[in-house]
Amino acid sequence: MGSTPSERLLRGTIAILGFGNQGEAHALNLRDAGLEVIAGARPGRAAEARARALGFAAFEPAEAARRATVAAILLPDEVVPEVWPELSSALSRASALVFAHGFSLLYSDLEFQGGADVVLVSPTGPGRVLRARRERQDPLPGYLAVHRDASGKAWALAEAYAEALGLGPLWRTTVREETEVDLFGEQVVLCGGMNALVTAAFETLVERGYAPEIAYLECVHQLTYLAELLHREGVAGLRRAISGTALFGDLTRGPRVIGAESRAALRKILDEIRSGDFAREWKAEVARGRGGLNAALEGASKHPIEAARRLALGEGGPERA
Ligand SMILES: NC(=O)c1ccc[n+]([C@@H]2O[C@H](COP(=O)([O-])OP(=O)(O)OC[C@H]3O[C@@H](n4cnc5c(N)ncnc54)[C@H](OP(=O)(O)O)[C@@H]3O)[C@@H](O)[C@H]2O)c1
Repeated sequence: MGSTPSERLLRGTIAILGFGNQGEAHALNLRDAGLEVIAGARPGRAAEARARALGFAAFEPAEAARRATVAAILLPDEVVPEVWPELSSALSRASALVFAHGFSLLYSDLEFQGGADVVLVSPTGPGRVLRARRERQDPLPGYLAVHRDASGKAWALAEAYAEALGLGPLWRTTVREETEVDLFGEQVVLCGGMNALVTAAFETLVERGYAPEIAYLECVHQLTYLAELLHREGVAGLRRAISGTALFGDLTRGPRVIGAESRAALRKILDEIRSGDFAREWKAEVARGRGGLNAALEGASKHPIEAARRLALGEGGPERA
């Protein structure tokens, strides 16, 4: 096969096990890098159809694992322990296993048969961003870690996979650091914190009689412009771009929103991640069939913020004069 370091280290067949959010982007980016890629997806389901429509040979996951010299484990984290016994024995030919997040490596006792390297190559964004950035030749930062270095070349392998994926710059870390920081970020800022903050701000305005659609536009819809600025220019850059009034409100009111009580909650949430309590709680919920999670999601979907969104964006209801 070819002569680039990626092609030499990733020689053979790369099986993408789990053709979803990350899996599709990995498959497309690796194929664009000249590598041989197959998909592992459950027969008759959406991922299999999507893989085939994009021109990949698709096999049921254990069969794809049997054909793999390198396997990317891109199944939902909570599914990995359940399917691992079957996959693990099918992966006997694979010389390397790549994970995109350390959750299963840190919190499940996955057994690895044979002499495969086990590495973490984690893009700092969802699959569609990973794909779009690759298409514009604009690398997305990534984390690398080595869980098991059987060949003595596991770091080089992780780097080769990450480069073929279009990641850069690459930051070396550990499975523990990547997992704990990733969970913390999504729980307190990117998902949990952001959703709770915009919902609480919306509720506060509506309780005081402000129109829900106006509250929605202010507290939710405009977030994207500021988040984009924060992403591009950082905190100081965002502050340079806002009005003097907004800046005064930011510096005097922001620290009151995230005061001592919120900071104590941040520390407690981090402690729960570090002790493994969060992972145990999530695994117990999965074992119970996710009834609690589904009920909470169903309840949240009926929150007035959803109707306000439809109204604010003109997707139903009368227009405000
Ligand atoms: N999502 C992100 O933004 C992101 C970012 C960085 C890292 N990661 C990591 O990337 C990995 C994959 O996450 P993801 O979000 O890409 O996963 P996902 O899209 O939720 O799921 C991947 C695929 O797995 C299949 N699947 C679900 N249950 C299965 C089962 N029991 N057996 C076999 N296949 C099953 C589904 O396809 P079918 O139902 O059609 O079979 C699905 O398309 C995780 O380790 C995650 O932490 C994700």
